[in-house]
Amino acid sequence: METSIPWEHGSEFGWILPLDYPYPKRALPANAVLFGNGRQALAAALLAGKKQRGWHRCYVPSYICQSVVDAVLATGLECIPYPDLPIGQPELNYRNLQPSDCVLIVNHFGWRSPQFSQLVRTTPAGLIEDHTHDPWSAWASNSSADFCIVSLRKTLPLPDGGAIWSPRGHPIEPPSIEEPDHQRAALQKLAGMLLKAEYLRGGSVEKSLFRSLQTSGENLFKTLPLSKPLEITSHLLDRLPWDQWRSKRRVNVEYLAGLLRTIKQVEVLNPPRMAESCSFGVVIRCPTNSVRDQLRQYLIERQIYPAVLWPKNCHMMNDCQAVEFSERILFFHADFRYEVTDLERVVQAVRNFFGSW
Ligand SMILES: Cc1ncc(COP(=O)(O)O)c(C=O)c1O
Repeated sequence: METSIPWEHGSEFGWILPLDYPYPKRALPANAVLFGNGRQALAAALLAGKKQRGWHRCYVPSYICQSVVDAVLATGLECIPYPDLPIGQPELNYRNLQPSDCVLIVNHFGWRSPQFSQLVRTTPAGLIEDHTHDPWSAWASNSSADFCIVSLRKTLPLPDGGAIWSPRGHPIEPPSIEEPDHQRAALQKLAGMLLKAEYLRGGSVEKSLFRSLQTSGENLFKTLPLSKPLEITSHLLDRLPWDQWRSKRRVNVEYLAGLLRTIKQVEVLNPPRMAESCSFGVVIRCPTNSVRDQLRQYLIERQIYPAVLWPKNCHMMNDCQAVEFSERILFFHADFRYEVTDLERVVQAVRNFFGSW
């Protein structure tokens, strides 16, 4: 009897067997400190800046996810949005910045350049860069920010983990333990990853089981207390061929973006290929919010799970361009999990959706 192997595209990583030897290239700078997740790494940077440099206020891009905003608020710093979308130029009156301010700059989708960071560096304010979407860009490697942070599970198949390093050599206090609440959340994520891999292998696992573990684990993640990641995360981090995966992501992004550009009803927002960076995925903009939602639903019914990065939230509400962006875009994964045939199947589904209009 023929057994069918389930196919899907997008969504979170399943468990991927690590190499059985340490990968010769380090995934993170030698001075990086690991935390439970990205928001904890950000909170650690803000708390260090508050203690060491008297930071009171943090300027945060208007286009950002709620967990980042929550992390800033959890540290007791004032969180001030400044207009900044993945496309266009940030608007921040940097001449007014004080030594008690810090600016969070996000390399949205891996598309941004270090120019704005260089401008902020000329002011008395502190600078934190979020390199989650491309932790290995030349910008991240050559940064002169006070702190760089990343959330690791967005680009690597890890259950948890965030990292922080200080290019300027500021001290960073490492977390002392694996906090039980964090452990509980991360172990659910880990179980979800293992079961997803079994499902994708054709094992008898219901999709609803691994999805509910992934979702409940994700919802349990917190900013405070700061925690170590699971021990297995550091073990995996040393054994993942991150640079080969990044190269594959770059090739996949180019291929998928090129195919999607042939569909006239969608606008591919990725910039032309940049030599030093690697896009997180492919972002399209639909003509309206309703078309975006219908397309997303159509794709979900075909096991294609693009993401809305990010759903609108209170922090972006005063920036109508950010809200509009959030309402019309879809993010397509193009990471190392996918082969050309997977990407072609995704594009065919998008084409069919518009063909049936
Ligand atoms: C750009 C960016 N930075 C930081 C975070 C927070 O990371 P974590 O979910 O690991 O706390 C996220 C989460 O989506 C993110 O997208």
